[in-house]
Amino acid sequence: MTVIPAGEINLLEDTWAREVPHDQFTRLRREDPVHWHDVPGGHDGFFAVTRHADIKAVSRDPELFSTELGSFLIRDQAPESLEALRLVLLGMDAPRYSRYRSLVSAGFTPRVIRRLATRIREQAADLVATIPAGGTVEFVEEIAARLPVETICEMIGVPAGDERLVFEWSNRMAGGQDPDLSGGRADSDLAAAEIYAYCDALVAERRVRPREDILTTLVHAEVEGDRLTPDEINMFFVLLCVAGNETTRNLLSQTVLALAEHPQVRAELAAGTEDDALWATATEEFLRWSGSIHNFRRTATRDTVLRGVPIRAGQKVVTYYTSANRDEEVFTDPFTLDVRRTPNEHLAFGGGGPHFCLGAGLARTQINSLIRELLRRHPEFALAGSPRRVRSDFINGLKYLPVGFG
Ligand code: HEM
Repeated sequence: MTVIPAGEINLLEDTWAREVPHDQFTRLRREDPVHWHDVPGGHDGFFAVTRHADIKAVSRDPELFSTELGSFLIRDQAPESLEALRLVLLGMDAPRYSRYRSLVSAGFTPRVIRRLATRIREQAADLVATIPAGGTVEFVEEIAARLPVETICEMIGVPAGDERLVFEWSNRMAGGQDPDLSGGRADSDLAAAEIYAYCDALVAERRVRPREDILTTLVHAEVEGDRLTPDEINMFFVLLCVAGNETTRNLLSQTVLALAEHPQVRAELAAGTEDDALWATATEEFLRWSGSIHNFRRTATRDTVLRGVPIRAGQKVVTYYTSANRDEEVFTDPFTLDVRRTPNEHLAFGGGGPHFCLGAGLARTQINSLIRELLRRHPEFALAGSPRRVRSDFINGLKYLPVGFG
């Protein structure tokens, strides 16, 4: 196996603003599956892990590959940011992690999602009904962004009418690498301060008037006899808002783009809108085809070896789900969009370790409901301009997708 020189691979944000670098990933999987990648600007480099099997192995060994030690982000964080990220579920290790996960997981059981499914289908139908026949819409803002924000706000307990606020805060916080979505670090910090203040006010209200929502659960929950601190509740609130919004929005937009580019697949789906089995496999294929999160980072807790490559304690390991989802060792014809693909062991929701996506069931229901309803009403659609990608090496985002409907 050859080792590809560092300068020949670039997996940082400018690359992704243009395209998903599948060519680079194909080469990495074949020639250098645990590749050393430099990071400019005084940050330490990292190992880019690109094969499905290795990503699963890293994700499922949290003692060796920690999230808490150096966070889940590629770039090194200032000490105060690192402390803040350790308050987020996604940034914790066991044993603390397990207690916090169990606090929110009750809000996301299959039973809860089944109960919500009818409501989600109604929301999807209402949204699709706003598309004028023969009209053009900017799909990201007008359709894709609205469904996830409506559902998650309702689950958390954000008052009706405030969804727009949450949507804008979450954009400004998560769009940090793209100047069109965020005013940079300072603006993203300001958005965080605003959302924390908003959350504090809701929390105060729930203390006196509990309801059946996730916020009430967090306010009254105890971890080892202690109530969650205001900071911890804030971080939970933000995680749920951001994780539940950006991801599903982008998956919906990317799927519409993929179907505009694959008219035969679109026709097959449009002809089978009442075929539940087809829509179950199609939903998984949409997730494989354009998963919303490209990677997460872990930090080695001790010296180890991964696929023959020595990794020292403290070094960063970045697992690329986007690459795993095209791994030719796992998927037949990985570059074919096959909506009947089965089995389909994609890693869009992570490599299957403890941090496996909490919202996977919810996201599946939202994707299935919205895309299906869209094809019921509008079997024909086409791009009405060039889509624009979000400049981010973390989120597989679209910020502009004009679509003309028949
Ligand atoms: C298409 C949609 C989505 C995708 C592709 C996605 C992807 C992911 C991925 C890759 C992870 C990390 C897994 C790991 O480290 O092994 C994750 C974690 C998480 N996701 Fe999602 N997600 C989606 C939708 C949602 C939704 C709708 C929610 C709802 C609130 C959500 C909440 C979370 C939370 C809370 C975590 C952290 C779990 C933990 O640390 O235990 N996600 N997601």
